Amino acid sequence: MHPDIERVLITEGELREKVKEAAEMAAARYRGSNPVVIGILKGSIVFYSDFIRNLDIPVTLDFMAVSSYGSGSSSSGQLRMKKDVDTDVKGRDIVIVEDIIDSGLTLMEVKKMFYARGANSVYIVTLLNKRGRREYDIEPDYNCFDIENEFVVGYGLDYNERYRNLPYVGILKPSVYQK
Ligand code: IMP
Ligand code: MG
Repeated sequence: MHPDIERVLITEGELREKVKEAAEMAAARYRGSNPVVIGILKGSIVFYSDFIRNLDIPVTLDFMAVSSYGSGSSSSGQLRMKKDVDTDVKGRDIVIVEDIIDSGLTLMEVKKMFYARGANSVYIVTLLNKRGRREYDIEPDYNCFDIENEFVVGYGLDYNERYRNLPYVGILKPSVYQK
C-alpha cells in the first residue's frame, strides 16, 4: 500500500464488480438509443474507462472539465467550465459519469446545462456518494458506493493532483494535508 494512505476503503475487486453492475444498469436503460457518455475530467477517467468497457450498447464518448474545488480538500461553492463537450447534445440521451457527488453543485449545474441545450434525458452515474455533505437537491440515478465524510483518493480521485493512479479508493493520512 502507498505510504500516504491510512487505509483502503474500496478494493480493486469491489470496484470491478460494482462498476460492471453500474454499466449493466445504464445499458438496460439506454438499449437502442446510442447515448452520449460524458466523463467529467479529470476525476472520472479511471471509472469512465472501466465503465464504458462494460457497456454493451453503441455509445458516443465525450468529456468536459469543470471544477468546484480549488487545490485543497474543501469546496469553493463555485463552478468553473474549463473544457466543454464537442457533441451537439440536442435530442440526445446523456449519461454523465462522475467520480464523486459531494455538495452536489457540479452535477446540479451540469445537468441543468444539458437540459438547457435540449438533451432528451440526463442520467447520472457516480462512483462515490457523500450523502452527508449534500447542499444541493440532486441525487445520482446510479451510485456505486456510499461513503462517509472522509477525504478519499485513488481510482481517479486526487489530492493536489496526486494519487489518481492508485488502483483502489483509499483514505489519505490527515498528516498529508495538514502539512
Ligand atoms: P461537488 O460539486 O461538491 O459535488 O463536488 C464534486 C467534486 O469534488 C468531485 O468531482 C471531486 O473532484 C471533488 N471531491 C469531493 N470530495 C472528494 C474527495 O473525498 N476526494 C477527492 N475529490 C473530492
Ligand atoms: Mg471531479
